[in-house]
Amino acid sequence: MQDKYKHIGPVYDFLSNLYSGKSIQDCKTAMLDANNVKPGDRILIAGVGHGRDALRAAQLGADVTVVDLSETMLRKFRELLESEAPELSVRTIHDDIMNIDEHESYDMVVANFFLNVFDEPRMVEVLRHLISLGKPRAQLVVGDFIYPTGNILARLFKKAYWYTAVFIFWLFTNNAFHQVYNYPEHLENLGLEIRDKKRFSLLNINCYWSILAEKRG
Ligand SMILES: C[S@@+](CC[C@H](N)C(=O)[O-])C[C@H]1O[C@@H](n2cnc3c(N)ncnc32)[C@H](O)[C@@H]1O
Repeated sequence: MQDKYKHIGPVYDFLSNLYSGKSIQDCKTAMLDANNVKPGDRILIAGVGHGRDALRAAQLGADVTVVDLSETMLRKFRELLESEAPELSVRTIHDDIMNIDEHESYDMVVANFFLNVFDEPRMVEVLRHLISLGKPRAQLVVGDFIYPTGNILARLFKKAYWYTAVFIFWLFTNNAFHQVYNYPEHLENLGLEIRDKKRFSLLNINCYWSILAEKRG
């Protein structure tokens, strides 16, 4: 299995902190609190990367499974777990998320900065698959770049900010090069109800959001 994150993976979280002044980190854990996560909940984190969100969920007592195609990213996640919470155990799967067939098994499915690696038709396919892994009334969390709205200057800033990031990842990891996706619209089109949105800013401009959606029963 080719590891597209072999080179950028080791410094991925460092770069995202540099790029966002920690807004990305805050965005990734925003919905993982005691209101949304109960001890024993089964949570799946798709494309986990370094996995601060998975660590937070495990610290809240959830039964966490993480999936990633990149061995480099999974190594960084194991290092984080080992250094910050060696007493916690997290199920780690090195595979393509599309090969996970545990349908209707999870109370929450988390996709932080994951869906943006795909072109739009594939992204919708992956999103549909993630929804199928949730139990009836499961929660789906998507943290990502915010859909550009506001006045023309705000929209220009958000687009330039996004295209800088997507260009770097297209160059280093061959991720898809595309516009910012409107995740709430996609989630609603696929039958989910939006429960909450939290926004995170850089230079006083909202650049990221975390969306909490619920699957209908
Ligand atoms: C942009 S990174 C985001 C990582 C992490 N979620 C975060 O917020 O920092 C995307 C991650 O998804 C993983 N990935 C890409 N395609 C995947 C697939 N089809 N199945 C599982 N993981 C995948 C990559 O290896 C990478 O770790």
